[in-house]
Amino acid sequence: MTPLSVPLRLGFLASHGGSNLQAILDAIAEGRLHAEARVAISNNSASKALERARHRGIPALHISGQTHPEPEALDAAIAEALTGHGAEWVVLAGYMKKIGPSVLQAFPHRIVNIHPALLPNFGGKGMYGIQVHEAVLAAGERESGASIHVVDSEYDRGPVLAQERVPVEPGDTPETLQARVLAVEHRLYAATLQRIAAGEIDLDA
Ligand code: GRF
Repeated sequence: MTPLSVPLRLGFLASHGGSNLQAILDAIAEGRLHAEARVAISNNSASKALERARHRGIPALHISGQTHPEPEALDAAIAEALTGHGAEWVVLAGYMKKIGPSVLQAFPHRIVNIHPALLPNFGGKGMYGIQVHEAVLAAGERESGASIHVVDSEYDRGPVLAQERVPVEPGDTPETLQARVLAVEHRLYAATLQRIAAGEIDLDA
């Protein structure tokens, strides 16, 4: 690995299980990713993602419509928490909320997301969780996959940085396909962040 002299300083936004967050933290701990996890933020105070971050000694914050009822104040609080903890990149790892203008403005071309399908197909509003895999199977697709993309103001729309294909197997259920894709997500996310750290992907291009 040929890291830049400065590690990627990552802030995470996650809503639920946080298995992608965990895979990235593991890659950092094992020296496969030249990065530092600065903060993890969730809109869900009970999310496993926050627990996983705390377990590694990473500041873990609940910031949501409960803590900040006004959407603008909520957006500003998230941006402040990220910048205040020294994050320079934002990693969305199963974050179920739209990114607000303050966060987008604070991190231009520095927010990435992972989606469990081959974008631009099976993405956009309402396409999340098991519904993505249900739609892939209903469409009779022979393959699915995982996509990592730059985040802009629309769901799942920014430029795709990396994709990996996953076969749909005979007899797949949405759950079995989801599990096969998720295993690929874990590997692809850490590897793609490392390509960013190594300067192999230029998000400003
Ligand atoms: C993943 O499938 C990811 O692609 C999508 O949300 C899911 C999050 O899973 N955006 P986890 O919370 O990382 O386990």
